[in-house]
Amino acid sequence: MKGYVPTPSDLADRIVGRLFRDQVPVEGDRILYPGSGSCPFGAAVERVCEAHEWPCPEGHAVEMNPRHIRNAKARGLQHVTYHEADFLSLSTQTFGTFDYVVGNPPYAGIEKLSDDEKDRYRAHFSSASGRMDLYFLFFEQGLNLLKAGGLLAFVTPEKWTYVESAAPLRRLLGSVHIEEIEHIREDAFEKRITYPAITTIRKSSPSATEVTLRNGETYTTALPASGASWAAQLRGAAQLDIDTGCVLGDAVVRVSAGVATGRDQIFVINADDVPDTLSQQWLRPTVSGRELGTVDLASPPKRFVCPYSDTGSLYPEDELGSYRNWAESHRASLEARFCVAKNGKVWYSWHETISSAPKSYLKMLLPSPTSGSIGTATSCRVIRFITLYRNEVPISKTYQRI
Ligand SMILES: C[S@@+](CC[C@H](N)C(=O)[O-])C[C@H]1O[C@@H](n2cnc3c(N)ncnc32)[C@H](O)[C@@H]1O
Repeated sequence: MKGYVPTPSDLADRIVGRLFRDQVPVEGDRILYPGSGSCPFGAAVERVCEAHEWPCPEGHAVEMNPRHIRNAKARGLQHVTYHEADFLSLSTQTFGTFDYVVGNPPYAGIEKLSDDEKDRYRAHFSSASGRMDLYFLFFEQGLNLLKAGGLLAFVTPEKWTYVESAAPLRRLLGSVHIEEIEHIREDAFEKRITYPAITTIRKSSPSATEVTLRNGETYTTALPASGASWAAQLRGAAQLDIDTGCVLGDAVVRVSAGVATGRDQIFVINADDVPDTLSQQWLRPTVSGRELGTVDLASPPKRFVCPYSDTGSLYPEDELGSYRNWAESHRASLEARFCVAKNGKVWYSWHETISSAPKSYLKMLLPSPTSGSIGTATSCRVIRFITLYRNEVPISKTYQRI
């Protein structure tokens, strides 16, 4: 079943507390738990209502996985009716509308959706766009089923507030009041969710949004209704200063472990130090992660000396021309490297056969991953990533999170 990340009870209590902060439940209210899992939010609602002696709203939990429904029923909650159904196919005609919608919707990227699901969602949801995620659609459907004046609270990754594919969702939400976006601790979930945030939305006219940052700082802001990224408003920072939450693969064309011998200091040279005898054919513009934001990306100061063709094949030695003359002086030290001497790697090759990439693309060198952050201990030998930099995403911060 897609996107199962259970909500710890302390977090469910906190979100429910936020839901009822300015609007105490009254007799006859209805509450919806979409993608309810084992219904931690229902349990939190009962706890909070009992503690305050508030009437418990009439609860409806919608979940596709019968096992989760069985687990939820075992809780013995008094106010909840369970529906084994696809939340995204419910209609207000059959299901009615709700005073409250609360949950932790599924996180499932487009690659986890079947072609049939993608077609169906695109036909029904304006937020089903680009590299959509299921929780975008849960926001839209949650709003569909929310009464005018009602309140929705979801905990999700914060990524939707700035990624391009969520622009239609942000436009949609531009017509209602985003009351609050609270960035919560990274370790709020046992199964790690990247940059979680609680979003509270009232189905009423747009107004100012309260923002809480992870450092506890709070402020009020006006979010653009155009669908443009909310990053600057939510972080109070310039776009380039923020951590976007993108992974490296979102921003680059290709990631490589680089030269087999690891001797980047030989293959990466200052543009000014390139010998006249080395033809431009072998040179690729290159920037290091820490140079981002400080060098002119149109004419970076370094060059990578690259023995591969545009179609990704390694030139044989007898076709290396001026590259071979240049590399010959380093040959002995490169041939002494373990991967060449013991593993039979070609002394000037990269770790892997590289796929084709236009010469004009910028390469970027990023710092070594620490052991364990990527792959196995052998990644210690991966001393650089050479990537192709496509736009102004702050990749160096992104990289640390892979
Ligand atoms: C992130 S989990 C959260 C579960 C629960 N709300 C919690 O907080 O512990 C999302 C849940 O949504 C359910 N789900 C996924 N797609 C669904 C859909 N289209 N309709 C109903 N439930 C769905 C999954 O089975 C999963 O239980």
